[in-house]
Amino acid sequence: MLQRGLAKNILVLVALLAALSGCICSTPQHPEVLQASHLADEPSSASLERFAGFLRIPTVSSREAPDHTRNPETFTKAHEYLESNFQDVWKQLDVEKVAEHSLLITWPGTNSTLDPVLFISHQDVVPADDVDLWSVPPFSGLIKDGFVWGRGAIDTKFSLTAMLEAVTTLLASNFKPERTLLFGFGHDEEVGGEKGAGSIARLLASRGVQLDMVNDEGGMLSVDGLKPLTHTPVALIGTAEKGFQSLRVTVKGTGGHSSRPPLDASTVADRMARVILAVDAQPPPTRLVAPTTSLLKALAPKAPRAFRWILSHCDNPLVAPSLAKYMAAKSAEFSGVVRTTVAPTVLQAGSADNVMPQEGSIIFNFRPMPDETANYTKEFLEGHLGRDKAHAAIEYVGEYGLPSNVSAAQGAHWDIMHEAASTTLSDQDIVVAPYLLTGSTDSKHYASIVKGGIYRFSPLQLSMKAGDTRRIHGLDERVTVNSYLKAVTFYEKLIKLSGSLSQ
Ligand SMILES: *[C@@H]1O[C@H](CO)[C@@H](O)[C@H](O)[C@H]1NC(C)=O
Ligand SMILES: *[C@@H]1O[C@H](CO)[C@@H](O)[C@H](O)[C@H]1NC(C)=O
Ligand SMILES: *[C@@H]1O[C@H](CO)[C@@H](O)[C@H](O)[C@H]1NC(C)=O
Ligand SMILES: [Zn+2]
Repeated sequence: MLQRGLAKNILVLVALLAALSGCICSTPQHPEVLQASHLADEPSSASLERFAGFLRIPTVSSREAPDHTRNPETFTKAHEYLESNFQDVWKQLDVEKVAEHSLLITWPGTNSTLDPVLFISHQDVVPADDVDLWSVPPFSGLIKDGFVWGRGAIDTKFSLTAMLEAVTTLLASNFKPERTLLFGFGHDEEVGGEKGAGSIARLLASRGVQLDMVNDEGGMLSVDGLKPLTHTPVALIGTAEKGFQSLRVTVKGTGGHSSRPPLDASTVADRMARVILAVDAQPPPTRLVAPTTSLLKALAPKAPRAFRWILSHCDNPLVAPSLAKYMAAKSAEFSGVVRTTVAPTVLQAGSADNVMPQEGSIIFNFRPMPDETANYTKEFLEGHLGRDKAHAAIEYVGEYGLPSNVSAAQGAHWDIMHEAASTTLSDQDIVVAPYLLTGSTDSKHYASIVKGGIYRFSPLQLSMKAGDTRRIHGLDERVTVNSYLKAVTFYEKLIKLSGSLSQ
């Protein structure tokens, strides 16, 4: 049995490698997922207008300002705007300002013994200072050509107004949640979230609140699938996120007059270059662990035939190493989910064109895997210093953002995410799969008061083909009208299911 299993593994690996080098790259066209919009429909166009209006308020966060806002007045304006456009929410629910610019909304449940479910969004956006490079002004909030345009359309003002639309509809239908529902809208997620989400989390902790479940922005509905593994649309539910850690390597070298460079490649620049090249040549090892193994298994039934067996056996020790290596080589996105990544980000040395500096430094930013040990990053760099070891020092820069826990991809919490996504986002068959976020979200601030799971999902249709990933924090950020309206129905469904979540 064992022998036959082994032979099958090898055969499939050979088939996989053959497939990868040829046929799978020619992708069959699949039917367009986007549906015709219903702009003529009165309630939807009013809801689109409320979303677009929110995009016109430039609530840019800033690391430099003590309160993390570029202009505090824009947040005051945002609060006034939300209050006058979602009057029922402000009248019927408890709305608190936290740390002046953040919002916490409480919808009390009928059974106060049940722990609340928290929905997270954020009011702030990254700057859009390349105004001239946009097709429309970034804060114009235009509804045009079937899209709603503007900075924050994807990340993540859409979720804030879509949640409020859903709450408004549910209030009007006299829905009463059994479980208390909380909505936390921070104001500085884009610069770490410490003032906004951090303050809300501390306030909840001081009140002794334990959260049952958290829903935050995160993965999206990839309408193109995940090529080459599947062409079926995939809703990527972030059940974990990677960590964040920066370290600075400072090197000392032969400095002095640049007319007499040393013969032994001992300048600061030589040493810096060697360290960077060593890291490039030998990056952290690849491995397949949860939740990526769960993602691949969920994709298996919708994968091309050549992949099916391999994906459904991706945690088999004979398959995992080759598959991880394949994914690491395939794209930066896949590479990010199968290894701790490391990138040189800030390089400093030298101040005059005729002087070799005495000292220089490189900051390496790491994104550790969920199961990475805390001291791995430093040990990794120490192991790459080679002949420059005696001339280098390594220190931590900033806080270590620990990788998150991995939330369950089964059970009651997962089931409601699955149900909400599969019934509202597409008229077609989609895959709903767990996913490892390579970036980080506001949910990390609540991690210590969550008993159940954290699920990071932005219910938007994202098309790789249309270059949508580049629009996030980039130019021409926009969402389709249809996708926004579906997001509203997603939140209606999820809020309803959360309100009656038993356990
Ligand atoms: C509230 O929930 C708890 C836990 O599920 C349950 O035991 C209790 O009967 C519920 N109370 C009411 C009034 O529904
Ligand atoms: C890991 O690093 C910390 C300091 O960052 C240190 O206190 C601890 O002893 C180290 N643990 C191991 C196992 O080396
Ligand atoms: C993991 O879960 C435990 C228990 O809920 C919690 O105390 C801890 O803060 C979590 N860790 C992270 C990194 O989120
Ligand atoms: Zn965001």
